[in-house]
Amino acid sequence: MKQKPTKKPAIANYSSGPCAKHPGWSLQALKGYSAGRSHRSDIGKKKLKEAGETVRNLLNIPSNYKIGLFAGSDTGAFECAMWSLLGPRTVDVLVCESFSKDWATDVITQLKIKSNVYDAPYGQMPDLKKVNWDNDVVFVWNGTTSGVKMPNGDWIPDNRKGLALCDATSAIFAMDIPWNKIDVLTFSWQKCLGGEGGHGMMVISPRAVERLESYTPPWPMPKIFRMKKDGKLNEDIFSGSPINTPSMLCVEDWLEALEWAKQQGGLKGLMKISNDNLATVDKWISSNNRFAFLAETPEIRSNTSVCLKVVDTKFTSLSPEEQKATAKKIANILASEGVAYDINSYKAAPTGFRLWCGPTVVKEDLRLSLEWLEWAYEQIIGQ
Ligand SMILES: Cc1ncc(COP(=O)(O)O)c(C=O)c1O
Repeated sequence: MKQKPTKKPAIANYSSGPCAKHPGWSLQALKGYSAGRSHRSDIGKKKLKEAGETVRNLLNIPSNYKIGLFAGSDTGAFECAMWSLLGPRTVDVLVCESFSKDWATDVITQLKIKSNVYDAPYGQMPDLKKVNWDNDVVFVWNGTTSGVKMPNGDWIPDNRKGLALCDATSAIFAMDIPWNKIDVLTFSWQKCLGGEGGHGMMVISPRAVERLESYTPPWPMPKIFRMKKDGKLNEDIFSGSPINTPSMLCVEDWLEALEWAKQQGGLKGLMKISNDNLATVDKWISSNNRFAFLAETPEIRSNTSVCLKVVDTKFTSLSPEEQKATAKKIANILASEGVAYDINSYKAAPTGFRLWCGPTVVKEDLRLSLEWLEWAYEQIIGQ
């Protein structure tokens, strides 16, 4: 029987959103917060503009792409894009987990657009060769609830007729995005840099702007989604003046997170942290024969939302309900010991564990938490 570990991780937060704050974060770091000042004041606008432009520099976003802030977190930004741009072409939707499934539902049952859905079971990616690029294409770059990611952008042609709409909320700042393959990309602050929820960013290409200005959807558009003014892109939204009021406290927190990201060596440094974290899990899996990655092949294995399944027959021989209850018990032990929080797999995903391994997670903490996971597993299942 494995001895109870003695050392605990300094930070034990593995939620896939809101994700761990970066090491060293404290409320004191937000002292530049201009409490009670308007987001339309000079100082407010300056901070909002900086929030976008620092993202551009960190992520190497081309200068002709626009970056805006939207309400409703990643969901708000992505649905704003879908509601504003989709309609004139058939839509191909790639589904690899629950959020991409939600986007398919939006296209089919809410927008009622002619569509093709390419669905893959948990742990796999749909066949990317099936996509018809005469159509608009909706996809996630990283499936947060299944732990699979896009292998690369090679499957997206440069001369596509349709638009590529990408929800990259759990990929951005940990994976390289080929911007020339993307027309719309959205993400929330709450993921890789450990910012706050509620705020979504949208990056749009010149082709997306062209679509926006040349097409008016037949459905009503609530104010919160209206990106056009007098038939043209409302440039204000993309230069520090969002449609409605953001939390300036969250903006301050985001600016602080971006500063931390710069100190890590920018995108390269952040990707290295995530890749090293994934390697730590990989090494741990190789050293025991009880767990495996849910993602079936290394090319599609996420380095942020790392999903594990249990392959031990003592566990797999249990009924699905017993498996769920057992995994919950293990996660509860770890939480009560203060050594790993929020590691249950997503409710609709296969039973197992999910550990966020993005850039704010510290490798040594992760290594210690995994030791604890092995110990807790033995406490519940036996050796
Ligand atoms: C791929 C994906 N899309 C959308 C969302 C929804 O994000 P939010 O709650 O920031 O709107 C999540 C949240 O985890 C996600 O992982």
